[in-house]
Amino acid sequence: MAPLRVGLIGAGWVTQHHLRGWQEIGDKARVVAIADPSSARAAERAEAFAIPAVFDSAEAMLAAGGLDAVDIAAPRAVHADLARLVARHGLPILCQKPLAPTLAEAERLVADIGGQVRLMVHENWRFRAYYRQAAAWLRDGRIGAVRGAALTLVTSGTVPDADGRLPALERQPFMAGESRMLVAEVLIHHLDTLRMLLGPLKVEAAALTRTSPALKGEDGAVIHLSGGAGVGVSVFATFAAHGAPPQQRDQLLVVGREGAIRLDGTALELSGSQPERLSYDADATYLGSYAATIAHFVECLASGAPFETAPEDNLETLRLVEDCYRLSGFEQEGRSAA
Ligand SMILES: NC(=O)c1ccc[n+]([C@@H]2O[C@H](COP(=O)([O-])OP(=O)(O)OC[C@H]3O[C@@H](n4cnc5c(N)ncnc54)[C@H](O)[C@@H]3O)[C@@H](O)[C@H]2O)c1
Repeated sequence: MAPLRVGLIGAGWVTQHHLRGWQEIGDKARVVAIADPSSARAAERAEAFAIPAVFDSAEAMLAAGGLDAVDIAAPRAVHADLARLVARHGLPILCQKPLAPTLAEAERLVADIGGQVRLMVHENWRFRAYYRQAAAWLRDGRIGAVRGAALTLVTSGTVPDADGRLPALERQPFMAGESRMLVAEVLIHHLDTLRMLLGPLKVEAAALTRTSPALKGEDGAVIHLSGGAGVGVSVFATFAAHGAPPQQRDQLLVVGREGAIRLDGTALELSGSQPERLSYDADATYLGSYAATIAHFVECLASGAPFETAPEDNLETLRLVEDCYRLSGFEQEGRSAA
């Protein structure tokens, strides 16, 4: 089969990982065009990844034709308009999270283009190898019925370093200007992954805080969720912890009737009658999650199988995100810095 001809919209930070992911699937697909209003950024990516065509807008790229699918990796504010544009050209879409800045906007988008073209949300966290392994253990009943879970993400990403720089913003400067930051940008991945592992969840309560005055949105979150059969799940996350490492490291405990699963960064442990301990390479797992997401998109396009992160599924994740903002009152009550 001829390789899928892919057009990439956006040439920002995240696209280095997209482009490596597209390279990894070999002859099944090729990124043949890239579009970004910053032509310097687009040209840089085109040169590094041998992309033959560069455009300064998605409109121009689509008008030029010759594409079989489009990968949207532009900022969240323009995802919906870009997805509608691609849908008008009748092409399947892989769109970065969050699908839209709010649940209502995402619902409108899904209603508008639902059924016209295939759409998959690029939700890559759940494709990380250790989370796939934990999901397999849960599916195989290795810890019995789940009774509760706790996820922790603690960094010093918004604490100034010795040079006065904020590590999280050095990495992704746009985070400073997002009025919905930690939950909509980062914890959206964890909420999605928890849904993948534990099934349907509901947000019972949420407290969101902003500690860093450099941010428009929140950099702290305490979230209480419930699952089926009285199961409780807690999420504690902060980017404002002095003394913590600047890098993100997920810590998860899932307690079952007959065992438990523990993730600490890249160390995954199963306790119970048949214990196991696995360790993962951080960089390979990070990059691998992009490659696995892209491979899933390409495989499902070829086979016609439903996407794991189809819009209907992703709206459930966006509902959890929306409920965190709604229940916390963070947006209504103002964001007082400490
Ligand atoms: N899945 C993940 O783990 C992950 C990680 C980082 C970012 N992201 C997501 O990827 C998206 C982009 O993030 P980023 O870090 O690359 O941001 P970025 O700010 O580095 O890059 C955004 C790029 O999009 C371009 N752009 C803006 N409007 C455009 C338009 N209409 N058409 C084409 N290009 C346009 C900008 O010029 C810029 O080059 C966001 O939705 C973000 O949430 C996901």
